[in-house]
Amino acid sequence: MRPEELLRRYLQQRREAGETELILDRLSVDEVLRIVGAFGRGRAEVAPQPDRDALPVSIPSISDSAPASIAAIRPDTTVPAAESAIDGWRVVLRGPAAIPPAVAPPAPTASPEERLLGEIREEIRSCTRCPLYATATNPVPGEGSSTGKLVCVGEAPGASEDQTGRPFVGQAGQLLTKILAAINLSREEVFIVNVLKHRPPGNRNPLPEEVEACRPYLTRQLEVIKPKVIVALGTFAAQTLLETKLPIGKLRGQVHEYLGIPVVVTYHPAALLRNSAWKRPTWEDVQLARRILDSSAA
Ligand code: URA
Ligand code: URA
Repeated sequence: MRPEELLRRYLQQRREAGETELILDRLSVDEVLRIVGAFGRGRAEVAPQPDRDALPVSIPSISDSAPASIAAIRPDTTVPAAESAIDGWRVVLRGPAAIPPAVAPPAPTASPEERLLGEIREEIRSCTRCPLYATATNPVPGEGSSTGKLVCVGEAPGASEDQTGRPFVGQAGQLLTKILAAINLSREEVFIVNVLKHRPPGNRNPLPEEVEACRPYLTRQLEVIKPKVIVALGTFAAQTLLETKLPIGKLRGQVHEYLGIPVVVTYHPAALLRNSAWKRPTWEDVQLARRILDSSAA
């Protein structure tokens, strides 16, 4: 896939997650314009380069068909409302003076849960507890509501997740989004996470030592979020959380427990893509999770 197509998809995914601002560090104005110009395919207007400070760049459109134009605006200039409203992206380019420290300070408005999850995320970013960090492109710490009442636990990042740093954004992820919608939940309302935070090369199965190295992050995430129910997606997540070798057919349909939190086991969305006969039982499993949510006190 061409890099600009990858970037376009990435931006679309971030957009779907409700983000409107993209911070690009360590890139020169020229580099940014080359990148955004690549999918803008056309006219680029550049203001004189400001000294170091943030340079907001509005990208009028990331859609295939839209007319291309890019405006780079001086830091002391506001993005014209008409332009920023077209597609909403605001790209902030930071000069050398503005490169953030390795551990980004939490936003002042962050809740205690968000801060703690942010700390875990930063630890994952620099984690070397198993060798997977060396072959992965990005860590995939997990995302969603820091107080989500439901947490989905998958296996490990796949190719799309490794590229974007976000969990369940590939084909299986799109199905997961629909499964959540079926029980009236959006991705933003829940927290989505994997047992492993770095992609195993070629999507091979995680090794026991990788799971044990990574498990403390999941445990801490769950302790912060304190969900009312965990949905274990697929054999691997279920067997790992419940420390069992029982097959998924024996684990689903009942309520288990992990860290004192009810666990519902269901098929992995990737498995549903291969075998639609599992859709019906999956539907029943997530209805069970929904009932646990509904019966838990607020
Ligand atoms: N499969 C998983 O288990 N996790 C992801 O994030 C994507 C696919
Ligand atoms: N677990 C499953 O059940 N299926 C997959 O494809 C991946 C993990």
